[in-house]
Amino acid sequence: MKRILSGMRPTGKLHIGHYVGALENWIELQKKYESYHLIADYHVLTTTLDSSNIYENTLEMVMDWLAAGIEPETTPMFRQSQIKEHSELFLIFSMLITKARLERNPTLKEQVRDLNIDNIIFGHLGYPILQSADILLYKGELVPVGEDQVPHVEITREIARKFNNQYGIVFPESEPLLTKFSRLPGLDGQAKMSKSLGNTILMSDNKEELTAKIRKAVTDPQKVRRNDPGHPEVCTIFTYHKKFNADEASEIETNCKSGALGCVDCKLKCATKIDEFLSPMREKRIIYENDKQKVVEILHEGEKIANKVAKATMDEVRQVMKLG
Ligand code: TRP
Repeated sequence: MKRILSGMRPTGKLHIGHYVGALENWIELQKKYESYHLIADYHVLTTTLDSSNIYENTLEMVMDWLAAGIEPETTPMFRQSQIKEHSELFLIFSMLITKARLERNPTLKEQVRDLNIDNIIFGHLGYPILQSADILLYKGELVPVGEDQVPHVEITREIARKFNNQYGIVFPESEPLLTKFSRLPGLDGQAKMSKSLGNTILMSDNKEELTAKIRKAVTDPQKVRRNDPGHPEVCTIFTYHKKFNADEASEIETNCKSGALGCVDCKLKCATKIDEFLSPMREKRIIYENDKQKVVEILHEGEKIANKVAKATMDEVRQVMKLG
């Protein structure tokens, strides 16, 4: 059975962009493959030195994972920071890639632009090296991620190849697995839904919260009055309909274009559909919110399993490298 490894940075409660871009895929794939899911709590430090919320944010994120349907009985969930082998393999891998290669990483360039970073730290430049260690410690063959992570999986493959050529074959050449909606646009019309851009709908938002957000969302700028013909292909709300209201999407498209459907009604319909979609997950989440100890236990169980696998891989690495 092929092995899946994927992860997320714990930045707190997840938004529907995380769900659509990755989580939904994870849930399908865990039925077919042996899955491992990592909480990248060291990677958080690449963009903020403040570590005081990482633990709390980890629990919030894991509750969203569980609410969405990750099965703790079969799918280990674990924190990068609790398994020392991540740091060790990161160090070895850092010898197998050049600074110039890391500087070409488009995901890094995008972050530098979005977050206005003018002087990049070494750990941020090396972000994909740590991610490669995350994936390869578990010999992850398939990596279900959003589009922005594909360059990191490419670097992972390059590092695996370099290592295998130099020392002997230990690692697979991992492949990314993308979803159809690998990037959901933000409420403000920007291409990406993202916490740092402040344009998200949270998976845990209730009906009032998400409706209020959707009411303010940016739609087709050329559709000013109700009867103006719209251009659904440029409208964020229409993208949400395609995902969360697929059955009605073509009717909405027709009525938007003809001017029969106004943005206010269209938005309310969208909010109702997203609410229906999220409602069972919110209910499941509440069970965990009332029993956080259970969430902590799930992490500890996952970490036991991850530890064993990571140790076995590092033993192999040391052996082929003739390190002791
Ligand atoms: N970089 C990923 C993100 O920002 C998180 C991540 C860390 C990851 N390690 C990983 C994803 C390993 C897949 C595999 O979302």
